[in-house]
Amino acid sequence: MTIDSSAPPLIHGGVQTPRAALPQLPPLALYIHIPWCVRKCPYCDFNSHAASPVLPEEEYVDALLADLDQDLPAVYGRELSSIFFGGGTPSLFSAQALGRLLEGVEQRIRFADDIEITLEANPGTFEQEKFTAYRALGINRLSIGIQSFQEDKLKALGRIHNGDEAVRAAGMARQAGFDNFNLDLMHGLPDQSLEDALGDLRQAIAMKPTHLSWYQLTLEPNTVFWNQPPTLPEDDTLWDIQEAGQALLAEHGYAQYEVSAYAQPGRAARHNLNYWSFGDFIGIGAGAHGKLSHPDGRIVRTWKTRLPKDYLNPAKNFKAGEKSLGNDELPFEFLMNALRLTEGVEARLYPERTGLPLESLAEGRRDAEQSGLLQVEPSRLAATPRGQLFLNDLLQKFLC
Ligand SMILES: C[S@@+](CC[C@H](N)C(=O)[O-])C[C@H]1O[C@@H](n2cnc3c(N)ncnc32)[C@H](O)[C@@H]1O
Ligand code: SF4
Repeated sequence: MTIDSSAPPLIHGGVQTPRAALPQLPPLALYIHIPWCVRKCPYCDFNSHAASPVLPEEEYVDALLADLDQDLPAVYGRELSSIFFGGGTPSLFSAQALGRLLEGVEQRIRFADDIEITLEANPGTFEQEKFTAYRALGINRLSIGIQSFQEDKLKALGRIHNGDEAVRAAGMARQAGFDNFNLDLMHGLPDQSLEDALGDLRQAIAMKPTHLSWYQLTLEPNTVFWNQPPTLPEDDTLWDIQEAGQALLAEHGYAQYEVSAYAQPGRAARHNLNYWSFGDFIGIGAGAHGKLSHPDGRIVRTWKTRLPKDYLNPAKNFKAGEKSLGNDELPFEFLMNALRLTEGVEARLYPERTGLPLESLAEGRRDAEQSGLLQVEPSRLAATPRGQLFLNDLLQKFLC
C-alpha cells in the first residue's frame, strides 16, 4: 500500500518533556467500525453512510484485517479484553463475514478468557437466525438501537423500524442466547412530553435489558436537524425528564455509572469503562480512532481514513493521522474521560495511565474543589453532582 499524499500529515504535537515509563500497560480493547446504514438518520453525525444494495462485505473484512496488521507491532504480546463492533449498523453484515473477521482477529491477537464482544444492532436489520448465528460466533453482548417505542417519535427521527419491531428485537436477542444486552434510548425528542419519555423508559425496563444507554438528543453540526431544527422540549421539561427518568431507572435497579449509562449490578459495559478509565484501544475501520500507550511512556492517538471509498482504495493509507499526547494535554485527556464516571476513578490511576505525578493536577484540583465541582477526597478523582452537571466548567480547570 502506498502513502496517500492527500491524507492529513502525521502530527507529532504537544510538549515532549520525557515522562516516566508506565508501570504497567492498561487493558487493551478493539473497536471495529462498520460505516454503513440502511439510510442516514437526520440527527446523526456518526461516520455512517447510506448503503448501496450490495455491501462490499468481503472487501471490507480484508481491509479491516490489513488495517489491524499495521497496528499489530504496537501491541505485540498484549491480549484483548473487549471488542466492540460499532457503526453505522454492524448488524447489516452477515454472520459469515463477521465470523471471518473475528477468526482473523483471534489469529492475530490473543483474546482474554472472559472477553466481552459487543455488536450494535438496529431493529429492522436482522432476523432471529442472524442473531443466533452472531451468538454462535462468540459475540456475547448486543447493543440495540431502539431510540423510542412511539411511532410518531420514530418517524420524526427518520428510523427504519416501528415500535413493534423495537419490542421484538429484545425478545429475539434473548431467544438467541444473549443474556447481556443494552438498549439505546434517546430523550428530549421533538415535541416529547415528560409522560412520553417516561413511557419509553418503562417499556424499555419491561424488556429487562442488563444495560440502558439513555441519551438526551443533541443537535449536531452537519446534520439535517442542525439545518432544520425540530421543536424540542423546553428546558424545564428536559430537566423534569432527566430527574424523573433517573429516579425511575434507580427504582428498577439500574444504577447510573456514567453521564448516559445505567446498568444492573455487575453489567456495566466493560468496553466503555475501558475508554472512560483511559485504557488503550486499537481502532480499525473507516474513521476509527485509537489510543495506545507504549512501554517507553509515549501515549499516541491515531485516526483512520474516514470515507469508506477511500478506506477501501488500495492506493490510500488506512492511517490518516497520529498524534503523540504531550504532558500539557494528558491531564485534560485523562479527566475528560474519568470524570464522566459517576464514581470517578481512584486517584492512583492517573500516574498509572499517564506517567505524570498526581501533583501535576494539584492546582486544578484545588480550584475545582473550591468551586464545589470536584469531590474533596484525596484517594479519588470524582465530580460532585454539581460538577457532573457542569462538566465542561470542571474540565476547564485542568486546561494548561
Ligand atoms: C453509533 S450510534 C448508532 C447505533 C445504531 N446504528 C442505531 O442507530 O441504532 C449509538 C447511539 O448514539 C445515540 N445517538 C446518535 N446520535 C445522537 C444524537 N444526536 N443525540 C443523542 N444521541 C445520539 C443513539 O441512541 C444511537 O443508538
Ligand atoms: S442508524 Fe444509527 S449510525 Fe446509522 S444514521 Fe441512524 S443513528 Fe446514525
